[in-house]
Amino acid sequence: MDITQAINAALPSRGRDIVNRSGALAEANGLRLYLVGGTVRDILLGRKNLDLDLLVEGGAGDFAGLLAEALDGSVVLHDRFGTSVIILSDGMRVDVATARAETYDFGGALPAVSFTTIGRDLKRRDFTINAIAASLMPEDTGRLIDPYGGIDDLKKKRLRVLHDKSFLDDPTRIFRAARFEQRLSFKMSHDTEKLLAEAARSGCLDTVSGSRIRKEVFAVMEEDEAAAAAARLASFGVWEALAPGLRVSTATVKGMRDIKKAEGALLHKLKAPYDRRYAMLNVIAAGAPSESVKALCVRLGLNRKRAAEAASLAQKSGDVLRFLRRHPRTGVLWERLRSRSNETLLALYALGGDSVRSAIVRFTLISGIRPLITGRDLTKMNYPPGAGYSEVLDSVYKRQLDGELKVKEQALTAAMKLFREKGYGR
Ligand code: CTP
Repeated sequence: MDITQAINAALPSRGRDIVNRSGALAEANGLRLYLVGGTVRDILLGRKNLDLDLLVEGGAGDFAGLLAEALDGSVVLHDRFGTSVIILSDGMRVDVATARAETYDFGGALPAVSFTTIGRDLKRRDFTINAIAASLMPEDTGRLIDPYGGIDDLKKKRLRVLHDKSFLDDPTRIFRAARFEQRLSFKMSHDTEKLLAEAARSGCLDTVSGSRIRKEVFAVMEEDEAAAAAARLASFGVWEALAPGLRVSTATVKGMRDIKKAEGALLHKLKAPYDRRYAMLNVIAAGAPSESVKALCVRLGLNRKRAAEAASLAQKSGDVLRFLRRHPRTGVLWERLRSRSNETLLALYALGGDSVRSAIVRFTLISGIRPLITGRDLTKMNYPPGAGYSEVLDSVYKRQLDGELKVKEQALTAAMKLFREKGYGR
């Protein structure tokens, strides 16, 4: 089978040009070059995927360096697995790997690598649909290499591992399986599903480092169908395997799905940019026992701020949602939400009903309301900076938000009264 036409149809002219020039360059250097992995899969599915995955066979020389030079790009990464990433001037990314075989000292460990042929390289891969290559050599461009029936699986919308130990060799594939299933609307084969369930139960995820697990969890959270993938992982007990007692209930899955609604409603209202992966994690945290959330944060190696945010949602999201549901006045709404991150606001919005959502939108609008008085006004009135400033300013601002103080003079009078009452002298 030849997929030249499919390649030409899927790639923009720039991509086609790169593919042709790469093939010619490989030939000139006595190497063989293939398009592999996600690129071939997506071309065959007719899905947009602008990055190119190239595989060089025949020596671990610096093909990436030569290609970068020919394309006027720069090599930004070069790892011990013989993989390089070239970034072109228009931001396009070309991954260049050297055909390699992998052996694992123990499941979950990073593999030991040796350079090899295309056939053995495809053999080390995760799923049949990712183990298809297309030649880029001028003499047989587009010729497919599909030793595991990947094309048939693409047609049948089936996700299948290549061998029984795949998930044990590399437990991160558990997350990849959930992602690909949902992203492509595929279904795992019965055997693959069984192997995944056994692997999840076997404790093999414990052998994977926190940073690798975090990367995989975040990759799930970035998917359009993150909620469905999380639900699927829950059905295999994967969350429980990461942190004992960590449930992902149907309410949590609905909340994760509603993060999109939250993003739509709050996008232009949030001051700083946000990270949807943490918004998703916060939804999970809000529906889980505190101890499990703590364990999850440790497992993922989250920083102190993110861990504290998640822990606070585990403990208090019920209280906060109840408070928001009761149509709070603007001052107290501001006080309660002011130090919450955007990711927490998104999570609360996603988890709440209409009244919670309108309270959060109301909160985001407060940032446009300037305080009637600032610290400078207090200094001008000869109050010593420090003691009591923020307490007084906050209290005056809350009353302003509630419509009790409308002009600056009223705010100054209220501040003076507070200073007197609190005993902060001039
Ligand atoms: N791969 C694998 N096992 C892994 C990770 C990757 O076998 N744990 C192989 C697969 O053949 C995959 C290729 O490496 O197709 C590239 O990996 P990656 O870029 O992570 O995935 P893609 O398939 O390109 O998917 P995505 O669209 O998510 O980037």
